[in-house]
Amino acid sequence: MSNKISAVITGIGGYIPDYVLTNEELSRMVDTNDEWIMTRVGIKERRILTEEGLGTSYMARKAAKQLMQKTGADPDSIDAIVVATSTADYKFPSTASIVLGKLGLKNAFAFDFWGACCGFLYSLDVAASMVKSGRCKKVIVIGADKMSSIVDYKDRQTCPLFGDGAAAVLLEASEEENIGVMDSHLRADGKGLPFLHMKAGGSVCPPSHFTIDHRLHYLYQEGRTVFRYAVTNMSDDCALIAERNGLNKDNIQWIVPHQANLRIIEAVAKRLDLSMDQVMVNIEHLGNTSAATIPLALWENESKLRKGDNMIFTAFGAGFVHGASYYKWAYDGAQ
Ligand code: UT7
Repeated sequence: MSNKISAVITGIGGYIPDYVLTNEELSRMVDTNDEWIMTRVGIKERRILTEEGLGTSYMARKAAKQLMQKTGADPDSIDAIVVATSTADYKFPSTASIVLGKLGLKNAFAFDFWGACCGFLYSLDVAASMVKSGRCKKVIVIGADKMSSIVDYKDRQTCPLFGDGAAAVLLEASEEENIGVMDSHLRADGKGLPFLHMKAGGSVCPPSHFTIDHRLHYLYQEGRTVFRYAVTNMSDDCALIAERNGLNKDNIQWIVPHQANLRIIEAVAKRLDLSMDQVMVNIEHLGNTSAATIPLALWENESKLRKGDNMIFTAFGAGFVHGASYYKWAYDGAQ
């Protein structure tokens, strides 16, 4: 008998803020319009956390709370909590430690995972390694970003793209074989810095009057270049993971891609010869929620999922970081 441990998602919780920022409202803030945003990006609206004093940990906690309720997991049984985010509440302490405190976890360690839009994909793989090694039995993995806190609502090139949200999965050890996180191909190339970054606020350029006056505390992106890299890398990563695992259009049930641009998602689906019915898409009503896009897509589509479904998760983000994972779903529908 094999004693191989599988790492499986056993539940999902999510949270999106109530406030809906429409293209129509944006077009009153900057020189843009619904037609441009829909054609070029595929976003109709996004959610924004507007309440003052609330940050990423608030959404992460809401998502994790729902996850704990749905799964009935005993808080004392959680071994670790990981929050993938680029919009931490503070530089320190970690957002994960704040969430852990609010959830009342007593036997867990907590850390943030800084992987930009790839944060969830990367941290799911790291958490799976912790589970498969026998180090942990239950890990909460959260993707959460309050992108509205770093978006310049005077910059029409970036402000239509992003939204706020969070989703959490429970990753558990299972003795069942051939299920859960099956394979991953994760990479970073280090070429992305000039094209996607925040200029100030880090150790290279700490906050000052100058950085505030020059609006350097916002996300900066050269969209066209990032677009090209995203299409190429996500498509290549998916093709590689599919080939390595004997996956093709007949046995893949779902692609769950990062949601940066509907045209990028369509290009990835085309490369795999898949119809858009097999692709989870939430960009139209949520925009790009960075580390939260993939778990939010799982959360919204949970009821459609069946045990044994073959899925490819794929993402691309600042760095550049990118990759794809093969995941085999472990339960039927919503729990
Ligand atoms: O999640 C992290 C990774 N991020 C991504 O993967 C994002 C990748 N990039 C993209 O999705 C696209 O490049 C964008 C959606 C950001 C931009 O779309 P694009 O088709 O590459 O447009 P562009 O930047 O080439 O701009 C085309 C035109 C420009 O006008 P000219 O120079 O052709 O006259 C822009 O000034 O569209 C103009 N434009 C706008 N017009 C109306 C740029 N933003 C807007 C806007 N509304 N909001």
